[in-house]
Amino acid sequence: MKYKRYEFSLQYPKPLAKNELKDLITVARSGLFSRYASDYTKKLEIDLARYYGKKHAVTCTSGTAALHGCLTALNFPVGSEIITTSVSDIGVVLPIIYENLVPVFADIDPETYNLDPISVESKITSKTKAIVAVHLAGSPADLTAFQKLCKKHNLVLLEDFSQAHGAIWHGKKVGSIGLMSYGSFQQSKQITCGEGGVIVTNDNNLAYRALIGVDKGWQRAKPLEGRFYEFLAPNLRFNAVQAAILKPQLKRLDVLIGKKRKLARLVYKAMNPISTYIKMQKILDNCTSSYYSFPMYVTGDEKMRDKLLKLLNDKYNLRAAYGYANPVPLYQCVTALMNPVKYGKGFKYSKHKYPQGLCPNAEALLKKSFLIPFNENYTEKEMKNIVDRVVTAVREITS
Ligand SMILES: Cc1ncc(COP(=O)(O)O)c(C=O)c1O
Repeated sequence: MKYKRYEFSLQYPKPLAKNELKDLITVARSGLFSRYASDYTKKLEIDLARYYGKKHAVTCTSGTAALHGCLTALNFPVGSEIITTSVSDIGVVLPIIYENLVPVFADIDPETYNLDPISVESKITSKTKAIVAVHLAGSPADLTAFQKLCKKHNLVLLEDFSQAHGAIWHGKKVGSIGLMSYGSFQQSKQITCGEGGVIVTNDNNLAYRALIGVDKGWQRAKPLEGRFYEFLAPNLRFNAVQAAILKPQLKRLDVLIGKKRKLARLVYKAMNPISTYIKMQKILDNCTSSYYSFPMYVTGDEKMRDKLLKLLNDKYNLRAAYGYANPVPLYQCVTALMNPVKYGKGFKYSKHKYPQGLCPNAEALLKKSFLIPFNENYTEKEMKNIVDRVVTAVREITS
């Protein structure tokens, strides 16, 4: 075939350079691998807190674990409602269920892919305790609106920056605004140690509760003789090997994002001639994406999207991904929501249903959207080549 193959994937290799292996080798040689046997995790947490502009950072095993740690720390009454988005990873839903809370899905803004503040406000009830604002694909959610809503309705704002490490909202890093914010270091993320997560906050008490909330509730700060397991909490501890892999990546995170932003500018320019047919995820004013991925959608219907992706694959040797990771919103693919069962004592989903049509914008967008191969390892020439194929294919199906 005339065209080199390009496949959409976020799980591409993110190797450490030779001069970044020092910490990892030191940890390996030390034989001290666990969080509390080694000081590497603590060192990383100091760096992470500084990077995210918060007083405290608490590492843990995943982004899902990080939301779990936040909710354990916040200790909302059983049955409280948490408003979140259905266009995201299931990690924004599972911890809510496990903590005996109720996930409530607000719709998205069909241009930004992020939660729509008007829909969020319409879902607020007397049981609502928090909003989880996910910054999807690296693009900051409308924190101005969510801050206002949280103030007006006395809610906690949680930011999920799993896909948006290093993204900027009004001159500030995303993650620095919420009472508690969290992110993932899973392989697909801007920086990674395979699996991992972090919680950041300025609140001393919440930081303490999050720290022991990912550590069986174990009161490590107290003398061994007088320690208790303070509250029910799983073991979601990070370790020193992960910290040694992540620490050098954090140092160069902004450089990496800089490369992605450069490629993104090239994509915007090259796509301009077909802007009637293809739109790209809208980035809000005063915000800068960190371009975890590059979402686009057709202005036509699902058939047009499917035709385009088939043509790209069959003729232009380029495999784009359908929808946004999941082809349907989370409430249509999470069995625990579709088939509600009682979980834990005294908790029932009975009042909450997740029917088709719950979030019309989310359902519609996922039928029209796609993700092109996009990553910082592409040269500008490669990136241009990828976009040129999209442009050519779009012209072909619309002429
Ligand atoms: C926005 C978002 N939130 C949460 C998660 C969950 O992170 P993890 O896979 O590390 O549990 C992910 C992972 O893909 C994500 O993209």
